[in-house]
Amino acid sequence: GIERRVDSVLKLMTLEEKIGQMNQYNGFWDATGPVPKSNEQAALKYEHLKKGLVGSMLNVKGVKQVKALQKIAVEETRLGIPLIFGFDVIHGYKTIGPIPLAESASWDLEAIKKAAQNAAEETAASGINWTFAPMVDISRDARWGRVMEGAGEDSYLGAKIGVARVQGFQGNDLASPKTIAACAKHFAAYGFAEAGRDYNTADIGTSTLYNVVFPPFKAVTDAGVRTFMNAFNLLNDVPATGNEFLQRDVLKKDWGFDGFIVSDWGSIAEMIPHGYAQNIKHAAELAANAGSDMDMESSAYVSELANLVREGKVDEKHIDDAAQRILRVKFELGLFDDPYLYCNEEHEKEVVGKQAFHEDALDIAKKSIVLLKNENNLLPLKKDNQKIALIGALANDKTSPLGSWRIAGEDGTAVSVLEGLQQYKGNTLTYAKGADVVTPDSKITFINELKINETDTSGFSEAIAVAKSSDVVVMVLGEHGYQTGEGRSRTNIDLPGVQQELLEAVYKVNKNIVLVLTNGRPLAITWADENIPAIVEAWQLGVQSGNAIAQVLYGDYNPSGKLPMTFPRSVGQIPIYYNYKNTGRPNGENSDVVFWSHYSDESNKPLYPFGHGLSYTTFAYENLKIKTLSAREIKVSVEVINTGTVKGKEVLQLYIQDTFASVARPVKELKGFRMVELKPNERQTIDFVLTEKELGFYTNKGEFIVEPGAFKVYVGGSSETTLSSEFTLE
Ligand code: IFM
Repeated sequence: GIERRVDSVLKLMTLEEKIGQMNQYNGFWDATGPVPKSNEQAALKYEHLKKGLVGSMLNVKGVKQVKALQKIAVEETRLGIPLIFGFDVIHGYKTIGPIPLAESASWDLEAIKKAAQNAAEETAASGINWTFAPMVDISRDARWGRVMEGAGEDSYLGAKIGVARVQGFQGNDLASPKTIAACAKHFAAYGFAEAGRDYNTADIGTSTLYNVVFPPFKAVTDAGVRTFMNAFNLLNDVPATGNEFLQRDVLKKDWGFDGFIVSDWGSIAEMIPHGYAQNIKHAAELAANAGSDMDMESSAYVSELANLVREGKVDEKHIDDAAQRILRVKFELGLFDDPYLYCNEEHEKEVVGKQAFHEDALDIAKKSIVLLKNENNLLPLKKDNQKIALIGALANDKTSPLGSWRIAGEDGTAVSVLEGLQQYKGNTLTYAKGADVVTPDSKITFINELKINETDTSGFSEAIAVAKSSDVVVMVLGEHGYQTGEGRSRTNIDLPGVQQELLEAVYKVNKNIVLVLTNGRPLAITWADENIPAIVEAWQLGVQSGNAIAQVLYGDYNPSGKLPMTFPRSVGQIPIYYNYKNTGRPNGENSDVVFWSHYSDESNKPLYPFGHGLSYTTFAYENLKIKTLSAREIKVSVEVINTGTVKGKEVLQLYIQDTFASVARPVKELKGFRMVELKPNERQTIDFVLTEKELGFYTNKGEFIVEPGAFKVYVGGSSETTLSSEFTLE
């Protein structure tokens, strides 16, 4: 099998060649032409490539480029070991789908898996074998720009979604030209960056690490994810990249992970400013000894590791182990059998951007939308004889809906909300911009040149006039697609620029407003919640954005999404999340004494809780029953009934509380969910079985235990559900 083949290759390799496998470079020149003479860095990388000192490349796209580089590795190096090509396929390759946070709001694991499957097929057709996804970082901080890239605040949901994504990317056969290797990132605790500022320190205790941060990583390991990426942050004062506990003890030993770990970009060298490594050589030593197998763009391994081995500072067995892991994945991908397996230009043309991907992108985009509020049945919109005003720059934007992290996606390829609504011809639709979100001279690049429009209100009067003469106003407000993502943390999570003023100005002349939010993180929109009758969370939904939004607004799709992350009332409440632990003074609402855990100027409650999401129909829950199946197995059943007038889908959620334990447990924890579709008056009984896995927890020593005692069970349509019962575990 593969192990024998890996060993036979390893035996042929020099120390330098093994270290070469551990070196990853960014794409550095148009590989179909000569290396530009003026570019010294490219020349050096090219030399390394020819000598077999490069094991992987990232950010190379398209069959032509991949093939040209692979040819050098295969034909010009001594052993001809193929390269593995990595790329950030975060929510689609070319056919961009909803941002991962949005997709997670669907709670639809099949649809999420399908999206990853399509992304893999499209990516592989373009020559690439490996995505740096899924990001399974749990985060409770909406200020952090990368919440758009994850599955939100909850580890149970995050684990299920992470596994669905890995299964979608990798399939059952990694060597199929339709699958690619996945990468669980960022190990670990990157989502706990202090104050939500990207790359910042994470300081968390063992309980949070084991019960909150680890579970999605553990779940995707068990599901066979082939690679991991470590993280930029310090975890309890040790950089994740140089962290032996995380990489060797937990991941490779305790969890038995036999794939490889890639560093994050330059994160080996970043251990120097962290104050953990003295210089680049020391950084290489620390990272290699800690179990970081591949160096992304620090050039630390390629320049330092051989000497470190010779000096006895890094044991050669660590180098062998890393090289072995990398070779193993290359074998599994079929690269040794055919290094050009992913390199067929005809196939690339047929597959990239194909119609079926767009159909699936529309399907999941609709499922990702969350109806936050709908007073007086303002939604769905009537299809005829209505005068509709459409307001907001984001309504007429074909780029912003693509969101952040879509390197191969092309600007201007999304269906705008304006285009989506124009397809409904029975009404008159009038568009007015009102205000830009970013200034028109903003450039959307990696360099942060996005300037928020803080002053220009010149479009207000047109918007007000249009609103005045309309029956209903649809306002599309929110964040620009590049206001979230890596390096895009915010201290305010309101509507940026003059959008709040625009909303209030329009409200003065017409209160029939449907607010469509397009954003990449929870927003604190308390005023809107108090005043605007209908609010729809539409995130950044990718190429099919406008079609999906229009179908939901007109009721051709009955919204079914549920929030994967709490929406705060105020940024000052952050971190706010549903599965918090009680203080010793939790409930003072009805007392006039000040000494209970609360704020003087804001409620403790969120604006919208985790799991919240409405439908055009309503659901009721009845007959919650609990049955002990065995000492460690509890069956929970409940009936859900469609009490409204249209067919709809509901995500039924089950939460438990271990009311008293050797360490304090959260007030509620999600431990099951199921999606049901019911016609009006239809009812269905749903069963859940709780086992040790759901009932136990990790102690402060990182040990998993199940303790006897009383548990509460809650079932319903959000984390604030109140239908509850109890059982005792003997
Ligand atoms: O995959 C990413 C990572 O999430 C952040 N730094 C760069 C990597 C490669 O692009």
